[in-house]
Amino acid sequence: MHQTHPPAPRAAEPVASQAPRSQMQAAVDAAITSRRSIRRFLPTPVPRQTIEAILQVAARAPSGTNTQPWQVHVLSGAAKARLSARILAAYDDPAQAAQHTEDYAYYPSEWRSPYIDRRRKVGWDLYGLLGIAKGDKAAMHAQHGRNYVFFDAPVGLIFTIDRVMEQGSWLDYGMFLQNIMVAARGRGLDTCPQAAFNQFHRIIEDELGLDASAQQVVCGMALGWADPAAIENTLVTERAPVADFARFVDQ
Ligand SMILES: Cc1cc2nc3c(=O)[nH]c(=O)nc-3n(C[C@H](O)[C@H](O)[C@H](O)COP(=O)(O)O)c2cc1C
Repeated sequence: MHQTHPPAPRAAEPVASQAPRSQMQAAVDAAITSRRSIRRFLPTPVPRQTIEAILQVAARAPSGTNTQPWQVHVLSGAAKARLSARILAAYDDPAQAAQHTEDYAYYPSEWRSPYIDRRRKVGWDLYGLLGIAKGDKAAMHAQHGRNYVFFDAPVGLIFTIDRVMEQGSWLDYGMFLQNIMVAARGRGLDTCPQAAFNQFHRIIEDELGLDASAQQVVCGMALGWADPAAIENTLVTERAPVADFARFVDQ
């Protein structure tokens, strides 16, 4: 049966979802579409209560059989600074950096169109804004290195997953990560998800006292208030139109 009327809000739903439908749509769409990867943050601290609220909301993410496979390490202050310093020391020393490799392949080993084109475009768009010329390896190295100070964000999140979990749980994990980024937007905060940390998972495991035989680093994420004056924060990435990635099959 096709439903012709929108269902009434459910009694147990929080107040926000009982707002008029148009307001709900606008608020949800704005939270999603205003999310961008922010790469320079203000030092303004994020209250612990706010971080906890974001994580509690994000944990409403669905997960197969409600397994909730996420583990979050919330770093700030001296703990964040220590991790950043250790990773940067390794990153800036080519001999040491070569000893650090990712624990899982985030990217394909074989790059093809259209993915390689999109990857190149976002890279050059960012470097272009920053005035980094093609071939300026030192400037590119320095810019990539900004990942390891969480782009100056006051909060650095490190996400881990139990190694017994399979690919399905990584799917669940992505929904949780997106929820964090959207819930942050709802509070005027910004984020940057960061796979850059994966190369240095051994340092992270050591610094955070993780049992690396049981826990795997998924990625990092910067959380804080965007620096409105930063040129890199003006980057707006493209998206393919719906017709390029969806087909409607009804016959
Ligand atoms: C799981 C994940 C890991 C990412 N890792 C990094 C990273 O290490 N450093 C970085 O600057 N951006 C990183 N990004 C951001 C992407 O470059 C960005 O999402 C993409 O270019 C689209 O731009 P937008 O997020 O501004 O919409 C990552 C994104 C995702 C989803």
